[in-house]
Amino acid sequence: MFGKKLDQSVESLNTVKNCYVTGFKFVNAGLAKDEAGTPDIALYSQGVTEFRRGVGVVVTGNGTNQEESRKMQEKMKKNIKFIEERMRELRTENVKKIKSQENAPTRPSVAKNMNINVNKNVNRNVTRNVNKNVSRNVNANINGKPDKLMFNKLKKGGIDNAMIERILDEVLESTSGLKFDDVIGHQQAKSTLKEMLVLPAMRPDLFTGIRAPPKGLLLYGPPGNGKTLLAKALAAEMPDAKFFNISASSLTSKWVGEGEKMVRALFTIAREMQPCIIFMDEVDSLLSSRSSNEGDAIKRLKTEFLVQFDGAGTNKEDKVTIVAATNLPHELDEAVLRRFPKRIMLPPPDDIARQQLVSHSLREVKHNLSEKDIARLGDLTVGYSGSDLTQLVKEAALAPIRELSMSQVTRIDSFRPITFADFTQAAKIIRPSTSNELLKQLDEWTNKYGAYS
Ligand SMILES: Nc1ncnc2c1ncn2[C@@H]1O[C@H](COP(=O)(O)OP(=O)(O)O)[C@@H](O)[C@H]1O
Ligand SMILES: [Mg+2]
Repeated sequence: MFGKKLDQSVESLNTVKNCYVTGFKFVNAGLAKDEAGTPDIALYSQGVTEFRRGVGVVVTGNGTNQEESRKMQEKMKKNIKFIEERMRELRTENVKKIKSQENAPTRPSVAKNMNINVNKNVNRNVTRNVNKNVSRNVNANINGKPDKLMFNKLKKGGIDNAMIERILDEVLESTSGLKFDDVIGHQQAKSTLKEMLVLPAMRPDLFTGIRAPPKGLLLYGPPGNGKTLLAKALAAEMPDAKFFNISASSLTSKWVGEGEKMVRALFTIAREMQPCIIFMDEVDSLLSSRSSNEGDAIKRLKTEFLVQFDGAGTNKEDKVTIVAATNLPHELDEAVLRRFPKRIMLPPPDDIARQQLVSHSLREVKHNLSEKDIARLGDLTVGYSGSDLTQLVKEAALAPIRELSMSQVTRIDSFRPITFADFTQAAKIIRPSTSNELLKQLDEWTNKYGAYS
């Protein structure tokens, strides 16, 4: 009797071990290929098949053999989940790659960047889970998309599949490839963001308790000075954090009637996928004190947002940061402001930043502007916002083409360089767009509530 049991346990241990070893051989080969940038889904698939066989072995009784078998089965189970998720990701990645090549054939570098990020993540997550078999967080997954378990959990919370899919498709951003260096000026804002978000994300162990990063951060300032740009660059600086990008106006317009559900779903998904950043652009259109006089739907939306915001902070361990941006901070009421203790003003570019912006925009075109000319342009463009300056450069860059006739344009393949005179001419058309009144209002608000970056 005893002998038979022992035999059985040895037999099942051998089978389990066999599947375990073979499975990992396939998976490791798959990983190597994946990391080299030439993923082979078939290898992963064979690994999963082996693991499934191993998990399927019935282990009865208790003893060291059984214990060892069950441990291996547990490890295989976890890895099946991760690998399947990665396989799914690779499949969608393939589709996306094809699509992006169709849509943007002139921007291969962005696609390349995305690849690098994907591979980096795979390396970090899968290796950790597969080789060491320590999964810090069962919900953590390879590419940041929720796995089946998470899907089920979200569904139980009343969030339907369609909503989850929509948020993942429309709101979850893949990195734009923008870096902090692409945002001109705003040095102070960048270092504040680094200190508040980038460093804590890199070393979460150091930034706990009173050093924990704040939940809410408000970027404000006159339109067109890089709030949206900076938030997008922030996403790229934190490749491990998921970045949800939602504009408040799309909640009130595009998702009419669904906005409330959308907010709830967004926060729920974000909590499941942390660490993450929720970026709410144009937040004034949702949370302004004026909107409380507006329709019921907006009022409910606002309430839901505040409830969810507070909910996101109930667990101290939660790593969900809400970054909001607005041109009109003075329209936010106290209840909202209280939730954004950190406020950073992004002012219009100063003289130096204006010059840098022009040189930055000119870096890929032919021009004959000297450093002195660029400095003069700095003087010429007092009061221009970052976006005004970008427009100005675009306008000036068109001048060499405008002076050609239609037939010349079709024949010619190189133009004369852009000159300083093109800029003075363009400056007559592109005027500063920020009103002094708004600037004054923002200054007053900053003195009371904010901080200059
Ligand atoms: N600091 C900046 N550095 C580089 N480009 C800028 C900067 N500020 C504005 N721009 C240009 O203006 C455009 C609009 O800026 P955006 O970030 O959308 O402004 P907003 O502050 O209104 O969100 C950007 O896409 C970029 O081309
Ligand atoms: Mg914006």
